[in-house]
Amino acid sequence: MNAPAPTQDELKAMVGQAALAYVPRGEIVGVGTGSTVNKFIEALATIKGEIRGAVSSSVASTERLRALGIEVFDSNAVDELAVYIDGADEIDGRGFMVKGGGAALTREKIVAAQSRRFVCIADASKRVDVLGAFPLPVEVIPMAARRIMRQFAALGGVAQVREKDGAPLVTDNGQHILDVSGLAIADPLGFESEVNQWPGVVTVGVFAHQKADVCLLAAPQGVQTLSFG
Ligand code: A5P
Repeated sequence: MNAPAPTQDELKAMVGQAALAYVPRGEIVGVGTGSTVNKFIEALATIKGEIRGAVSSSVASTERLRALGIEVFDSNAVDELAVYIDGADEIDGRGFMVKGGGAALTREKIVAAQSRRFVCIADASKRVDVLGAFPLPVEVIPMAARRIMRQFAALGGVAQVREKDGAPLVTDNGQHILDVSGLAIADPLGFESEVNQWPGVVTVGVFAHQKADVCLLAAPQGVQTLSFG
């Protein structure tokens, strides 16, 4: 009889474990946010004696890291990180991603920008040809939300304010998130540059200027490594 296919949780654990091969020993590691990264944090705790600590991209990841005895450094205390390890909501064939399903996109982009290498960890369901099927997260200053929603409508997108417990979700930075459906992002670099300039946009969840260098993609057959150069 064939073994049962791994669950999505097991795939996330596989890829979280595989990411340890990209962690430089004796250094500080950039750590993302989300359910896949939570598996990576559990794996990282098993080698915590071999690293100096982490720079974290969210309050949630910071709490997990500290609970497992991993020291968390302020990003301003570290000039450059060798590696940043994080998940994605979508990743295309060039390493461009949509991120922010966990509302941590701004700090994720900051830590990615201070890292020499971005290692994306994901299960195979995240691999797409064109970004945009997953509603695009955009962190915005609340007073600009309605105008930004109209700007997305002009591009064919439908934006909604993300809610939690019946009220707008408030990010770690005290701002709101728009989730924009109906976009097909054919030019991620140009799209990211354009939307970043709209007044009131804090961060757009397209990671094209901070794309992945490597993606570890977990499938039932095993972990596949995609390199984007
Ligand atoms: C967090 O804000 C996101 O960018 C996550 O990296 C992304 O949503 C992937 O999360 P999961 O690993 O939970 O799917």
